[in-house]
Amino acid sequence: EDGSGKGAALITAVAKRLHNIDKYLYAMRLSDETLIDVMARFRREMKNGLSRDFNPTAAVKMLPTFVRSIPDGSEKGDFIALDLGGSYFRILRVKVSHEKKQTVQMESEIYNTPEDIMHGSGTRLFDHVAECLGDFMEKQQIKDKKLPVGFTFSFPCRQSKLDEGILITWTKRFKASGVEGADVVRLLNRAIKKRGVNYIMAVVNDTVGTMMTCGFDDQRCEVGLIIGTGTNACYMEEMRHIDLVEGDEGRMCINTEWGAFGDDGSLEDIRTEFDREIDRGSLNPGKQLFEKMVSGLYMGELVRLILVKMAKEGLLFEGRITPELLTKGKFETKHVSAIEKSKEGLNKAKEILTRLGVEPSHEDCIAVQHVCTIVSFRSANLVASTLGAILNQLRDNKGVGRLRTTVGVDGSLYKMHPQYARRLHKTTRRLVPDSEVRFLLSESGSGKGAAMVTAVAYRLSEQHRL
Ligand code: GLC
Repeated sequence: EDGSGKGAALITAVAKRLHNIDKYLYAMRLSDETLIDVMARFRREMKNGLSRDFNPTAAVKMLPTFVRSIPDGSEKGDFIALDLGGSYFRILRVKVSHEKKQTVQMESEIYNTPEDIMHGSGTRLFDHVAECLGDFMEKQQIKDKKLPVGFTFSFPCRQSKLDEGILITWTKRFKASGVEGADVVRLLNRAIKKRGVNYIMAVVNDTVGTMMTCGFDDQRCEVGLIIGTGTNACYMEEMRHIDLVEGDEGRMCINTEWGAFGDDGSLEDIRTEFDREIDRGSLNPGKQLFEKMVSGLYMGELVRLILVKMAKEGLLFEGRITPELLTKGKFETKHVSAIEKSKEGLNKAKEILTRLGVEPSHEDCIAVQHVCTIVSFRSANLVASTLGAILNQLRDNKGVGRLRTTVGVDGSLYKMHPQYARRLHKTTRRLVPDSEVRFLLSESGSGKGAAMVTAVAYRLSEQHRL
């Protein structure tokens, strides 16, 4: 046998294996036709959420945020921003000054939020937040300063003004008792009052913070997108379309809470057995079904469930199954990101799978990389569909043939995954061809945006006092 003959045989074997995986995961490979259909469905969900009659039962809540414009450049001052609900709990100090040009100076600190605090009592959670704030103020040597605080709280909240947020339901990793149905601004102010002098001026969703952060650099920014632990988006909607808020003039930012898309059964035809299994094992079964198909908290686990099933059927690792492979959480989204790296990906796969004890062959590694690609590609495709619906809405609102706009983006999955951003951009442009979309990475998270919202609120309240 000559070498090239063997090589050709090997390539054919690998190609056949990949083809089999494609067939095996057929339900996860969404055609453009399906994506366009999902886009149309989400557009209907948006409409329902905005309407007075359908909002109470709508899966996608379309929450008014009382943020009416992006920063106008006249804001200034010294602010604190708290950022709770993403991969990290961060506290920032944001100084906005005005010498010739508006400039922003920032310092920040990351704090731990142990699981027992996320799942304990609400009082303890907010005491913890206030304690960290105290520590931060001390470190910054501003202990006795009375600085306005902006609160990025990355969960669905009903608002009737900027400094109120009634938590509708916990999502992602949080489940502290006694907070759902309560105003998180009051809870936090109560905890802060026990130890200091600050007060909360505004509460904003992380999507809104991201839109504001990017809006600071690009006036065209009118969408905020998060693809991290969870997924969600906000955008500027015409007041005349928002039934739940009085008035028809101008625009207001709407937090879509698109993670809940499908909670009323509208995505059942594209959910797979793996999606159902993820949901059953989650903190909030039956809720955030779109989020569970897309975001970083679930992606690694989705891949693990697929690998387990394939191994059980003898399609991987010669059927070897180890306790590690069977352990929930042992395969993380950061592993998906590592395995999909173009050069080192296969070596990473070997490392990660070896740690799981399954003794992977080279072909196993190629196969697992392919599974990761299918799962992460589906995620990017689904986000392209829902984002596409928002872009179409903006275009129709403006009454233009061609939409020119900027989407502010943040989130660990979008930032860390080597292929995700490119795929998302490409699919979005294909689904909404009559648009010119700029994706702008938020360089400092949503905290700067929360500070900007706070700055605007502060400016308005000062004007009020004069
Ligand atoms: C979850 C939250 C939402 C947040 C998103 C991203 O979907 O419900 O409020 O924006 O995660 O962090």
